[in-house]
Amino acid sequence: MTASPSTRTDPLLRRVPGQAPRPVFSHAAGVRLFAPDGTVYLDAASGSMTTALGYTNPDIVEAMTRAASTLPYLHEAIGESPAAVDLARLLVSLAPEGITHTSFTSNGANAVEAAIRLAVLAQQGRGLPERRRVVGLGLSYHGSTPGALTCTGASAALEPFEGLLLHRLSVPTPFCPHRQADPHGEDDCATRAVEALEALLVGPEGGTVAAVVVEPIAAHAAGCRRVPAEFVAALHDLRRRHRFLVIADEVTTALGRVGPPFASTLVGLRPDLVCVGKGLGVGYSPISATLASGEVVAALPPGANLLGHNYNSHPIGVAVALTAVRRLTEPGLRDHVRDLGVDLARELAGLRDCPAVRDVRSEGLLAAVELRVPGPSTGTAGTWARTVADLALDAGVVVLPGACLVHGVPAAHLTVAPPLVTAPDDLREMLRRLRTALDTAADLLEGRR
Ligand SMILES: Cc1ncc(COP(=O)(O)O)c(C=O)c1O
Repeated sequence: MTASPSTRTDPLLRRVPGQAPRPVFSHAAGVRLFAPDGTVYLDAASGSMTTALGYTNPDIVEAMTRAASTLPYLHEAIGESPAAVDLARLLVSLAPEGITHTSFTSNGANAVEAAIRLAVLAQQGRGLPERRRVVGLGLSYHGSTPGALTCTGASAALEPFEGLLLHRLSVPTPFCPHRQADPHGEDDCATRAVEALEALLVGPEGGTVAAVVVEPIAAHAAGCRRVPAEFVAALHDLRRRHRFLVIADEVTTALGRVGPPFASTLVGLRPDLVCVGKGLGVGYSPISATLASGEVVAALPPGANLLGHNYNSHPIGVAVALTAVRRLTEPGLRDHVRDLGVDLARELAGLRDCPAVRDVRSEGLLAAVELRVPGPSTGTAGTWARTVADLALDAGVVVLPGACLVHGVPAAHLTVAPPLVTAPDDLREMLRRLRTALDTAADLLEGRR
């Protein structure tokens, strides 16, 4: 499948050097992607859990066009567009209790970086300037910039970049990813993670911890896992005693993908800072947000420079996001997502008898199909997930391949996250095509092909 660099025929440097060129898509509409030869693919991944309203949504296109033709650019140090203020107000009204402010940047990683900077500055304002480090959990992903990577718990991806990262403080994952029974149940992984966090906090580096970053529902990195309630309760208790801040990374989960506007509410997490990404620009515009509590904002040293980027609060991005968030939080769409989530869970349950499938999990419209893995190394798990995702593409459905090392054991999964506007018939067809791919994968695993 892979082409050596010398056999590449175009100058596009691919995400995985040496990887064969990915398919070309010429256009898209609704939940469908079209190849130049007319082949139609159903996008069951929403791009990358991003295009929640599908492709070519007329309201979004209209908002973009209007912004582009009236105020295409404004640097946030110079001024702000009315849509930025309206969007901030709307997000705060939907956010978990205590959140009072928001700022906008341009991707998930930068939203996490902004949260880290805010946490460090707020600690300085509280008179705790030695608190400059952030704790991340195992089996998490927070983005590919140095601060976000530092708290990411996917070791293979980090190794080449160790020298670039901040001082790493990590705690084992609270999820028990190989657990088959109740995916929301408690188990000793949560206990172990709490013990490790507490040991870190009372240890020599405890006084340097500014914040702990948590995904309320770990998405792609852990294959759709809800943070255990035991870990959440302990985290709140430890925060009270050790004065760190809690950053909820909701880049994937915010704005309806798992049901409510914020997954923190679903798992009982009370964050001080919240990062929002993918669903905010619904794939049309690179925009993300970092939300902060009143306490964090009050603690910021007067005149502190929060830093930022030239495309922060970009007027086209905020116009898109304002239209998107209004649509995503309409009661009719929320009811549709709830019903479709039930359909998805039922369809996924129907995959359990496929020999290529190890487990299935879902939260609203975020799901993972965990695969049986053929070989002993993580490379094999990653290659296998990619192979099965390519089989799905051959069957006409887009899903995302994922792999990780769980307590030393390679795991592979496919993330399924259809657009929130998917029609029930299209969802059924997505899952039918996925089943075709998984049956082929089972044949490969069992040596029938
Ligand atoms: C939970 C989570 N946080 C942060 C990020 C980083 O977002 P981005 O790729 O937009 O920088 C991702 C990306 O997939 C993510 O899933």
